[in-house]
Amino acid sequence: MNILIKKFRIKSFKEEKPIIDLKDLSIHYGNRQIVEGLNLSIQKSEICGLLGPNGAGKSSIYHCIIGLVKPSYGKIFINGIDVTDIPTHKRCSKFGISWVPQYGGSWADLTVFENLLAIAELHIKNKEQRVTKINNLIRKFELQNVIKLKSKYLSGGQVRKLTLAMAMVKDTKILILDEPFAALDPQSVRMIQQIIVSLQMFERISVSISDHSSRDLLSCVDNAMVLSEGKIVAKGTPQELVNNTKAIQAYFGEGFKI
Ligand SMILES: Nc1ncnc2c1ncn2[C@@H]1O[C@H](COP(=O)(O)OP(=O)(O)OP(=O)(O)O)[C@@H](O)[C@H]1O
Ligand SMILES: [Mg+2]
Repeated sequence: MNILIKKFRIKSFKEEKPIIDLKDLSIHYGNRQIVEGLNLSIQKSEICGLLGPNGAGKSSIYHCIIGLVKPSYGKIFINGIDVTDIPTHKRCSKFGISWVPQYGGSWADLTVFENLLAIAELHIKNKEQRVTKINNLIRKFELQNVIKLKSKYLSGGQVRKLTLAMAMVKDTKILILDEPFAALDPQSVRMIQQIIVSLQMFERISVSISDHSSRDLLSCVDNAMVLSEGKIVAKGTPQELVNNTKAIQAYFGEGFKI
C-alpha cells in the first residue's frame, strides 16, 4: 500500500452524527430487488469506500443518495435531516453534494472550458472569481492542453478528469465518486487520490468512493464496505477488510493483498 497517499487513517470520528445515513433502504427496479434493508452510514470528514461486484447496486445507492432514484422502502438522512422526498437539485444545493457519475457527466459538444463555465455560472456569481476558479481547476487536473477541445474528442481519462473538475467547481461538503479511477493512468490515479485526501484534510469534506481498482481505492480511504446481494457483508479499515472472510468470498477472492 502506498502510505504516502494516506499517512493516517481516522478510526473514530469526533462527530457522533453521520453525514449520510441510509436506514433500512430497499431499491427495486420493477420486480427486481437490487438492495434490501440496507443500513449504511458515512461520518463527517470520512473517506469511505463502497466495493462490490458488478451489478451489486453501488451506483443505484449513489443515485438514491442524490435523489435520482427513489427507494422503494427506507429513509435517507443527510446531516440528520430526512431528505428522502427532497428533489435532487434542492438536496444537492442545501447539503453541498457533488457527484461524479460512473458514465458521462459532461456535455459532449461543449469544450473543456465551456463545461466548467456552465457549472461555474450556476454557483459563482462574480465573473472574475468564476474564471479564476476554472483556471485553477484546469491547472489542478492538468487539462491545459485540451481547454478548447470539445468533450466528445477527449480521451477516456481526460473526460474523467474533466468530470472530477466539474464536481469541484462549487464548495462541496459531500463528494460522491462513482469509479473516479476508471480509465486513468497510474500517475493520474495518484493525483486524484492526493486531491481527495487533501480535500478531507484541509476542507473537512466527506467522500464516498466506489471503484474496482480496489488497491487504489483502499490506499486512500479510512474505511470501506463490501456490498453483495443487496446487503453490506463486511466493513472496516482496508487492512481489516482484506482479511475479512466474507469480503474475500464476496469480492476480493483468495490471495488478494494490499
Ligand atoms: N434504471 C434501471 N432500471 C432497471 N434496472 C437497473 C437500472 N439501474 C440499474 N439497474 C440494475 O440494477 C443492478 C445494479 O446496478 P448498479 O449500476 O447499481 O450496479 P453497480 O454495483 O454500480 O455495478 P458496476 O460495478 O458494474 O458499476 C443491475 O443489475 C442493473 O442492471
Ligand atoms: Mg456502478
